[in-house]
Amino acid sequence: MNDLILRAARGERTERPPVWLMRQAGRILPQYRAVRSRLRNFKELVETPELACEVTLQPVDELEVDAAILFSDILVIPEALGLPYEMPDKGPVFPRTIETELDIESLQEPEQAAAELHYVYEAVRLTVRALNGRVPLIGFAGAPFTILAYMVEGSGSKTFSKAKRFMYRQPEAAHRLLERITLATIAYLKGKVAAGVLLVQVFDSWAGILSKEQFDAFSLPYLRRIAQALAPLVPVTLFAKGANFSLPELANAGGNVVGLDWTVPVDWVRNQVGAGQVLQGNLDPCLLYAPAPVLQEATRTMLRQFGPHHIANLGHGVYPDTPLDNVRVFVDTVKSFEYES
Ligand code: CP3
Repeated sequence: MNDLILRAARGERTERPPVWLMRQAGRILPQYRAVRSRLRNFKELVETPELACEVTLQPVDELEVDAAILFSDILVIPEALGLPYEMPDKGPVFPRTIETELDIESLQEPEQAAAELHYVYEAVRLTVRALNGRVPLIGFAGAPFTILAYMVEGSGSKTFSKAKRFMYRQPEAAHRLLERITLATIAYLKGKVAAGVLLVQVFDSWAGILSKEQFDAFSLPYLRRIAQALAPLVPVTLFAKGANFSLPELANAGGNVVGLDWTVPVDWVRNQVGAGQVLQGNLDPCLLYAPAPVLQEATRTMLRQFGPHHIANLGHGVYPDTPLDNVRVFVDTVKSFEYES
């Protein structure tokens, strides 16, 4: 198996950085759009293991990245807890949301919720078999805070002000909800590991709307619990987008890799977390709109700045209208890079 990403995640020095892209399985690929257009909706893709497996393999075949990431969504957890999601073109919507303590009490038990996600574990088993040892499969989940944000807000939002209001007005209820989500997420990620994923990533996509104080109180403790529960099994990546005010805390949370968004300079991050910390990221996804030579130069500059202990990726998911040729330029530039000895 090409185990470059596993070795890098465990802190070993690798001959070059491994590379993959967040959201690599999706609308950047014509093959994905073809599968998707035959289906009624997004959930059908997520809930049909054969289809999830098929689109998970597409970027591995097309781009020859160093890891596959299971095609799914972070919103399967709120759904299993009892709040179904819908996915119209403009992004997720929850017909029912969390407003009161009673809403939280009536949610499904965490272990039970995780057990309901058998279609995900089946997709993992099929994908591992189909990958046939080519590259490791990454499993993922949303961070408890990001999941709470959707469960309270009921949709995406620029401010997530309903979710933040809930945390300021009903902090105890918020912690009870975070506790439930955390337990479900740990059981869920352990289920994915049992089915064959070799690395897990936790996405705290909305961490950046929190103050440091709120992040440290409402997000970090739960990330820590997930990292500590999973790290004995597989390497764990914590990606708290925008939470650059808490990088030392994230580095010490018990995971292996810290994911970075594109806003932070690498030398500043290295000062925060130390030279041995494995980092993932962080090219601006919009650089993939630039002319190829500009993209190549920016990618090489990034790789030199990180040095070893780095997994090359973008600073967030690849945008759906990114030219595929430039995605290939990015991947190939990393793959032809050699560290200076
Ligand atoms: O290749 C991969 O990375 C695996 C696929 C993946 C999806 N969702 C598929 C998807 C992953 C890792 C996710 C995680 C996810 N889902 C996150 C965390 C990562 C991040 O980007 O911050 C979040 C916040 C969600 C919630 C979500 N799902 C939103 C906000 C949307 C709508 C935005 C959009 O891109 O349209 C989705 C839908 C979604 N999830 C799509 C895909 C490919 C697009 C819908 C479609 O193809 O019909």
